[in-house]
Parts: sequence; C-alpha cells; structure tokens
Amino acid sequence: MSIARRRLLQLGTMGLGTFFTGRALGKINRPNTEGSGRKPIVISTWEAGINANKGAWKVLRDGGRALDAVEQGVMVTESEQSCCVGLGAWPDRDGFVTLDASIMDENGNCGSVAFLERIKHPISVARRVMEKTPHVMLAGVGAQQFAIEQGFPLENGQLSGDAKKAYEEWLKKSEYKPIVNVENKGSSAFAPLRLPNGDFNHDTIGMVALDAHGNLSGSCTTSGMAFKVRGRVGDSPIIGAGLFVDNEIGAATATGVGEEVIKTCGTHLVVQLMAQGLHPEEACRKAVEKIIKNFKGREAKLKDTQVGFIAINKQGEHGAYCIQKGFNYAVCYADEYNTLIDGKHIM
Ligand code: GLY
Repeated sequence: MSIARRRLLQLGTMGLGTFFTGRALGKINRPNTEGSGRKPIVISTWEAGINANKGAWKVLRDGGRALDAVEQGVMVTESEQSCCVGLGAWPDRDGFVTLDASIMDENGNCGSVAFLERIKHPISVARRVMEKTPHVMLAGVGAQQFAIEQGFPLENGQLSGDAKKAYEEWLKKSEYKPIVNVENKGSSAFAPLRLPNGDFNHDTIGMVALDAHGNLSGSCTTSGMAFKVRGRVGDSPIIGAGLFVDNEIGAATATGVGEEVIKTCGTHLVVQLMAQGLHPEEACRKAVEKIIKNFKGREAKLKDTQVGFIAINKQGEHGAYCIQKGFNYAVCYADEYNTLIDGKHIM
C-alpha cells in the first residue's frame, strides 16, 4: 500500500475526510501514480481545479457523462473571482474582459468560442456551438449574438473590483500609451509574460475526465492573458492546441502562454504521444520539451515563460509536465480524494 493511500485511510478513520484536499495534504511531489488506473477520474489545472473537480465529481460519481462533468466543473471556476477565468478576470489592455473556451466529447465533437464578451459561462456557449450548430468555433460579436439567441444573459460588462484594481496598477507600470507609441516599445507592448506580482501570466482552467462508462471528454476556459492586445486569442479555444480528446487514446489540456501551445499543436501532440504508448506524464514531458526547442534564438524569454500540460489516458492514468516550477494540477477520483499534485518541470 502506498504511503499516501495509508494516510488517506488513517484520515478516513479519524473522520477528517472532508478536510482531505490538497491544502490538508500539502502538495505532493512524487510520481503521479495516485489514482492511476481509476474510473471515473477527473483532473484539472491549478489550485482552482480543486473546486472545479468538486463540480465535476458530482456528475461522475453518479455515473454521469464525462462531457457533463467537464462542463459543470469549469463552470465553478467561471463563477469564482480569479485573475484568469470568467468575467471577474483581468481585462485586455483596453479594459475589456474577453473570454475563450472549448469543449470536446467522446465522439470527436467539439465546440469553441473566442473573444466572447459579457457572457458568464463561455464553456456552455462552446457546448451549444458543438451541439446546436454545424460549426466548431464562433468568435466575437457573432459568438455573443449566438449566446444571446440561446438564452444566455448579457452581463453588464463592468470590471470586478479586483480586476479594476489590477488594471489600474498595470496602467501605471506599463506606461500605457496609444497604439502609435506602443509599437516602439518592443515586447512590452504585448501581454506581459509575468503579472506585476511576479506570477506567470496565465492560469487557464483546463479539465479532462474519464467517466464510469470509459468515455473521455475535456474542457478549457480562460480570459486569456491579462492586459493582452485587444483581439488576441490564445490556445484555449483552439482544438488541438488548448484541448484535445481522442476517446480511443486519451485527453489533454494546456495552460500557460497560449502562443507557444498553438505553435506546437500542444495537446494534439500530447495525445499522439500517448497513442504511441507513452504514459500521460511522459507524453506531457515530450510536448514541453518540443516547446522549449522552439525557443532557439530567443532563449532569454524562456525563463519568463510557463506552459503546462495535463493528460489522462483511456486507462485512467494521469500525468502533467511544465516548463517552470510552480504549476500544479488537481486530481479527483473519490468523494474523499481531491488533491493537488505538483507538475514536474524541466527548468
Ligand atoms: N493559455 C491561455 C492563453 O494563453 O490565453
């Protein structure tokens, strides 16, 4: 019996099951075997994944469909206040929150929205695109118009208190200038790779799940990089970049600097590596290595760039890898098991 398993049973007998979260356990740094091979199982990016997993688990534990689980799960994060997901998140450099999301089911169906404004649950709009239209992706005002037609309320567009504060702070430090001047400022004209507090910019929520029937699905939702150029779209709504599911093989999702993920078709690469027989962790590591290779000629930028992948395979094995220390993911496979695992890192 593993040490963690023994600890779980000890806590269970002490009646501390409800405290058995990543916080209660501390972040685990060991091979990601805990829960491997289980069904159902859900994993998601970052600490926000703990709450998101709880939403997904309610669906999975009752034998529900992975697709419903990954939608319900990330809706939790879209409703929370965070820097990087949902309408409470940090805006673009013009002061508007714009949202990207994608979803993919066990039959290879997928839907996504990009540059969507004033709609609280972009993930659900992405699902409607998948289920109600012959298309995969809707963007901008058209996506918003579709959402309204589908009955989603149009929110007021005001920044949350936290977002307003962060934006005002960023305006000071970035010495924001009109576009004509910004062009001369090099990369600082674009979204910063780190936020003013030093954290990496950005913490997307991505989730992949395997249900009791053995079916895989995934979701990914974000406000994109904080203070991005207006109109910038990242990897999250792009199938094969921020999210990919192949029900015969596995599912993967990504977080971090979306441009780097897009350049490598990151999650499609992870799934293809799993198809070659690699464990999800090994597949994620190889995809991260590929991203790092792409920094040839611009090595100095690498230290400020974070990308992380998480993946599960058809057997319920899971894993993650990232460029830099600091990324973690949440794994849930039982009422009493929902914990954070540190992503292994290359640098
Ligand atoms: N990974 C989220 C983004 O780059 O927008």
